[in-house]
Amino acid sequence: MIIHLVAAARPNFMKIAPLYHALAKESWAEAIIVHTGQHYDLNMSDAFFSDLRLPAPHRHLGIGSGTHAAQTGKTMISYEKLLMDETPDLTVVVGDVNSTIAATLAATKLGVKVAHLEAGLRSFDRTMPEEINRIATDALADVLWTPSPDADENLAREGVDASKIKRVGNIMIDSLELLRIKIEASAIYKDYNLNKSSYGMVTLHRPANVDEKESLKKMCDVLIEISKGLPLVFPVHPRTQKQLAAFGLLNTLKNTENLILTKPLNYIRFMNLVFNSRLVVTDSGGIQEETSYLGIPCFTLRPNTERPITVKQGTNRLCTPNNVVAEVNKTMTNGKPPANKIDLWDGNTADRVVKSIKELRDSTI
Ligand code: UD1
Repeated sequence: MIIHLVAAARPNFMKIAPLYHALAKESWAEAIIVHTGQHYDLNMSDAFFSDLRLPAPHRHLGIGSGTHAAQTGKTMISYEKLLMDETPDLTVVVGDVNSTIAATLAATKLGVKVAHLEAGLRSFDRTMPEEINRIATDALADVLWTPSPDADENLAREGVDASKIKRVGNIMIDSLELLRIKIEASAIYKDYNLNKSSYGMVTLHRPANVDEKESLKKMCDVLIEISKGLPLVFPVHPRTQKQLAAFGLLNTLKNTENLILTKPLNYIRFMNLVFNSRLVVTDSGGIQEETSYLGIPCFTLRPNTERPITVKQGTNRLCTPNNVVAEVNKTMTNGKPPANKIDLWDGNTADRVVKSIKELRDSTI
């Protein structure tokens, strides 16, 4: 069975890696990694392949950056061409980036079966490009692998047939467990002259937070304020770097004592810093999940989340620029919020996905 694993951007690589390794053990399966090239910088892409012990992508579409339509359109054209040259038995798409919907559209129109890993998540906020990608991908995919009960409910409400939905758990936790020994082996915080559990991690890259000067300035003010009580490490995403420079905010941040700006970090270094941090301030999706799993307080600078289970059962709190400093200070004084174990976030999701693919294969022979 030939299976395309389509990956495009940084968070996708952590989602295909455990599945690639699990499929490599199966004699009936041949997994082909298709990198669309949406992320192309060394530290946004290649560094993740080596950390996650992935081979170089078997196919590379070289799409690069662009507007939403340009990126989606180019990926569709290029992936359609690849599909016509070598038709897989299944295309697996992950997450919610532009390549996810692009590959789904190209494959389904050619009659290639599509499975979506991390299906069913909804923020109910259609101003987010990812929400559009999630809704459209889930409407088209043949198999929907979900991480949590809320995702199952969302799909059912949208009319997806129950037979297509399989709850498999959270694949990102597999990556984390796969590499836990390596992640725990070092103490990266020492490189920044920091002490264990006495610094915070920051990531910011959502268009809503970084694309307008006013919102990005607010974010910067918040970070400067928090850093007065807790040193912060902030690996800066290329989008954010560009905007900080354009709005003349970069030097202020660079000159803030206790605020350490770095280039985007590879997976192992970044996770090592998260493991040893006191708390995390972010607008990422995946980090809300990783911190919940690890029991580390997470302050998400967004009005909503497509991962509500991290708020209900995990350590995640949705914050605004107006209340995040107070929330962080509360946690610094009162300690961690309680965190519960989330069902099927256990490091065995890839095995459940492989089982589901095998069932699909057996039902179509
Ligand atoms: C994309 C995803 C987002 C995901 C994020 C993770 C969409 C709609 N968004 O957003 O869901 O959370 O990836 O990072 O698919 N750039 C570089 N080097 C790179 C990649 C990008 O310099 O390797 C620059 C581009 O020139 C562009 C900007 O970063 O200006 C944004 O890149 P893009 O892939 O369009 O969106 P992200 O913000 O990364």
